[in-house]
Amino acid sequence: MAYSIARETLGLTQPGQIDTPEISFAAKEIDLVEWKGDMLAVGVTEKDMAKNENLKFKNSTLLKLDSELGGLLSEASSEEDFTGKAGQSTVLRLPGLDSKRIGLIGLGSITSATASYRSLGEAVGEAAKTANSSKIAIALASSEGLSAESKLATASTIATGVVLGTYEDNRFKSEPKKSTLKSVDILGLGTGPEIEKKLKYAEDVCSGIIFGKELVNAPANVLTPRILAGEAMRIASEYSDVFTATILDVEQCIQLKMGSYLGVAAASANPPHFIHLCYKPPGGAVKTKLALVGKGLTFDSGGYNIKTGPFCSIELMKFDMGGSAAVLGAAKSLGQIKPAGVEVHFIVAACENMISGTGMRPGDIVTASNGKTIEVNNTDAEGRLTLADALVYACNQGVEKIVDLATLTGACVVALGPSIAGIFTPSDDLAKEVLAASEVTGEKLWRMPMEESYWESMKSGVADMVNTGGRQGGAINAALFLKQFVDENVQWMHIDMAGPVWNDKNKSATGFGVATLVEWVLNISSQFQFQFQRCC
Ligand code: BES
Ligand code: MN
Ligand code: ZN
Repeated sequence: MAYSIARETLGLTQPGQIDTPEISFAAKEIDLVEWKGDMLAVGVTEKDMAKNENLKFKNSTLLKLDSELGGLLSEASSEEDFTGKAGQSTVLRLPGLDSKRIGLIGLGSITSATASYRSLGEAVGEAAKTANSSKIAIALASSEGLSAESKLATASTIATGVVLGTYEDNRFKSEPKKSTLKSVDILGLGTGPEIEKKLKYAEDVCSGIIFGKELVNAPANVLTPRILAGEAMRIASEYSDVFTATILDVEQCIQLKMGSYLGVAAASANPPHFIHLCYKPPGGAVKTKLALVGKGLTFDSGGYNIKTGPFCSIELMKFDMGGSAAVLGAAKSLGQIKPAGVEVHFIVAACENMISGTGMRPGDIVTASNGKTIEVNNTDAEGRLTLADALVYACNQGVEKIVDLATLTGACVVALGPSIAGIFTPSDDLAKEVLAASEVTGEKLWRMPMEESYWESMKSGVADMVNTGGRQGGAINAALFLKQFVDENVQWMHIDMAGPVWNDKNKSATGFGVATLVEWVLNISSQFQFQFQRCC
């Protein structure tokens, strides 16, 4: 163990504390021209920017603002060729108004409301960062047309965008920049307890997304399996009213016969830690049990089938615990939201895939905890080996549904590109539920087939199966492999998030998966509440 602690401080790196101020959100119904603060941002569509023959805005909100500003807004927008296209923005310093700056942010023609309002929030967050603003307000030029329900959704999506747009992971920089944003007023989208609740919910989800991003961004010399387990325990103690944590060490995993997982972990100087958090609702009544299982490879070198070649991305393989980050991020959010009626198990078989004399060789046969034997024809297909034992463990918790998330195959990235995750499930019902949740969050999922005939390529001459089929249909083969470890009577979905885990442009983690998992669990919880209200 002493050796493993030395490994965790390898390079003497210690993450710093991020002291981002908590941003407080408030929904208000005051006139834009009366609002006081550092920056007033107005989201405008191309239609809102239309002007009449006298070059006056047709939109009443913009017309009023413009006349208050003596025509500055219409002048500046035509000079800068600002037409309200998505991605366009213009910020003006103001001499007259109580707000010191006014920003117009283009929304385009709004094809996907979630994506548009999320990027509005992000753009405003970034503009506030550049201008060092601390008190800002956001409004839409035409919010009157929205239904009460979509006003709520819009407000929370904008708030999410602001939090994530302002956030910067500075923990590993010697001179971190500080964010100054403290308060955001959301104008014209309603007031009252319902919208306040929705905004609070958005903040809770964001804190889970940011936690997930930080886990993925942390390098493998800092975030070892032991540290990942420590982070899980920290969630459990922070929300000890609803969580209990169990961390299994190597000996306990041997007792449970997790040979497939332990085979992957065998080469590393940092021992594996099997993480199990259990959420029980406050008040106790449990209507259904769910499990969220995440791939937790804190580093994937490939093992003896080492990742080589220019596009193998070995230097990015710290992100191979992105599935576990989504699961633990969701746990953090749910610990704050505390949904009723659902028991949720969060399961991660955390380890490192390394190379050493104690490691697994290509051709070795390992035995998983359900007794099935696997000929490891490629040590780089390690994620599925760890998930095999994690899925058996999840089924043993007596759950009705399991969703697993994993950065499982490069093949899925080839198929769907960097921003879409592949989903695989034999259950149409579960597909519907999770897809509905992802519609709300804006995370992109695409259902892939589970073509049973491809199982042929996964047959072994000596064991029950091999862990890799051919090059073709790699993401499907991986899903078929996982299916071997799930009870038939459990509804199960596998999400291959190898593409969306990482944003190449920002060189940073995305926090993918957290929002959709939370939304899915809350939808299930509210179904039961609805039934309860109806029958009693
Ligand atoms: N962690 C990788 C998958 C991966 C690759 C994620 C690239 C993101 C970007 C996984 O463990 C892996 O190595 N998969 C192999 C499977 C193959 C050996 C069948 C792959 O995709 O190449
Ligand atoms: Mn691998
Ligand atoms: Zn991997």
